[in-house]
Amino acid sequence: MNFKKELAEILFESLKGEISVQDLEQLIEKPKNQEHGDLAFPCFTLAKVKRKSPNQIAQELSSTIQSPLFEKIEVIGAYLNIFLNKQQVSEQVIKEIGTLESRYGMQAIGNGGKVPIDMSSPNIAKPFSMGHLRSTVIGNSLALILEKCDYKPVKINHLGDWGTQFGKLITAYKLWGEAEKVKQNPIKELLTLYIRFHDEAEKDPSLVDQGRSWFKKLEDGDKEAHELWQWFRDESLKEFSRIYDLMNVAFDSFNGEAFYNDKMDRVVKLLEEQQLLVESDQAQVVELTEEELPPCLIKKSDGATLYATRDLAAALYRHETYHFDKSLYVVGNEQSLHFKQLKAVLGKLGYDWAKNMVHIPFGMMLKDGKKMSTRKGKVVLLEEVLDESISMARHNIEEKNPNLENKDIVAKQVGVGAVIFHDLKNFRMNDIEFSLEEMLRFEGETGPYVQYTHARACSILRKGNWSADWQPSRIDYSWEKEWKVITMLMEFPNAIKRAFNQYDPSQVAKYVVDLAQAFNKYYGEVKILEDNNEKQARLALVYSVTVVLKEGLRLLGVEAPDEM
Ligand code: ARG
Repeated sequence: MNFKKELAEILFESLKGEISVQDLEQLIEKPKNQEHGDLAFPCFTLAKVKRKSPNQIAQELSSTIQSPLFEKIEVIGAYLNIFLNKQQVSEQVIKEIGTLESRYGMQAIGNGGKVPIDMSSPNIAKPFSMGHLRSTVIGNSLALILEKCDYKPVKINHLGDWGTQFGKLITAYKLWGEAEKVKQNPIKELLTLYIRFHDEAEKDPSLVDQGRSWFKKLEDGDKEAHELWQWFRDESLKEFSRIYDLMNVAFDSFNGEAFYNDKMDRVVKLLEEQQLLVESDQAQVVELTEEELPPCLIKKSDGATLYATRDLAAALYRHETYHFDKSLYVVGNEQSLHFKQLKAVLGKLGYDWAKNMVHIPFGMMLKDGKKMSTRKGKVVLLEEVLDESISMARHNIEEKNPNLENKDIVAKQVGVGAVIFHDLKNFRMNDIEFSLEEMLRFEGETGPYVQYTHARACSILRKGNWSADWQPSRIDYSWEKEWKVITMLMEFPNAIKRAFNQYDPSQVAKYVVDLAQAFNKYYGEVKILEDNNEKQARLALVYSVTVVLKEGLRLLGVEAPDEM
């Protein structure tokens, strides 16, 4: 049911192969104003090939092409404007959605190819930041969109669980830590210890040496150091898991930076073999002058490896483990240089596949126009944000629909959905102003607005005793007033394709808002439940809308309650 393609094929027949079907399909547009038809074919390109005026060509084509799918063909200047046959097309759309249900919109692009997605990746013993929230939400939605396009996403949480900071943390814990306190509130307590370490180290520089030696022990596999590290990691993960559970996000792998400890010698050796390592300020670096990038630091003067070294090892590991089609990194914009260097170093090593690594950057979360950071000591806990959003949603339900069953479940779906939708509704590179009130509004471009529209449509179906075995061909219906909604339903596969091509979930978010608006307008103008011959046809349309809204929200990682 791709009417662009259909038109391209008809044009191809009529043109007797002067220009390929694919090229024709590329040329076909969707007029901004529906009064100019549903599809438009501009004749400029053909005019050059045929050495005739575009208008003349449009005129000729208008008299030769025909199809039961076209209601009317109009020529305006260089454009051939096609009006689709509303009845035929509507019935096809409704039938297709009814048959495919949640599979509607699937794209046969990926052929089951694997795509690791590096996402979320918070740092152990540190608070889960707004940046990590963005990475989690964008990564999760991209995974769902890729799956819809027939890829196999592999969601990897590349935890920040290694580095010199763990030497400092162990030192601080041994000096001032209490096991009970850490157990009760791991991240808060470990952060306090870490901050204290830095404060005291200003007075007593020997602490820095102690930290260094604990990290050395950790790297050398010392039992006590390793046990403490493992414990910090486990406790932090427990805390992160609560957030992931709330947001309904699961991972295929938690291989973080520490996982690559025993895989870095190989990277260093590969670089040495190809004489890519040079000494600079006692450190080992890879020069990237030709690539016009600063050198990539591989080993510090004391022999310690770095973030970049671990990412090189991780890239090799992912290539060998998953034989990926593409490998994605959903990481904030401030790390763009790091990923450029990473790809450049792998390119220098002769790995052609490095070109399939894609950094997917995103902008910042702002509060009153300023970066929302987890400042020293003051922690903006994401869990609190989610809890607050859920309780506000719960409050709204109490006001609007006090008799609702499963209030707690719905409040969670709406509260969490609001936070996720707010993050995804704009192109990811845009900074976002954080505002719970804004997120939870029931009007405008919000998650609750789309969820509410879905629930309203479900309620119409319940009231109309809709049964899904209805067949559109049983009724003669003009579909005139429904046309805007029908054309929106037809757009869903295109929105998915755009989201996939641009790694941009906002394409789907904007789409569900547009569909919800078109539906609400229809709902305001037409008595859907009026008992006449056409009631079933209208209900079938409503049903299609519920299917597509629900599936669109699902692709964003947002649930769609039937009632709210
Ligand atoms: N843990 C890092 C941070 O919080 C993000 C890691 C991103 N992934 C990667 N493979 N480098 O900044």
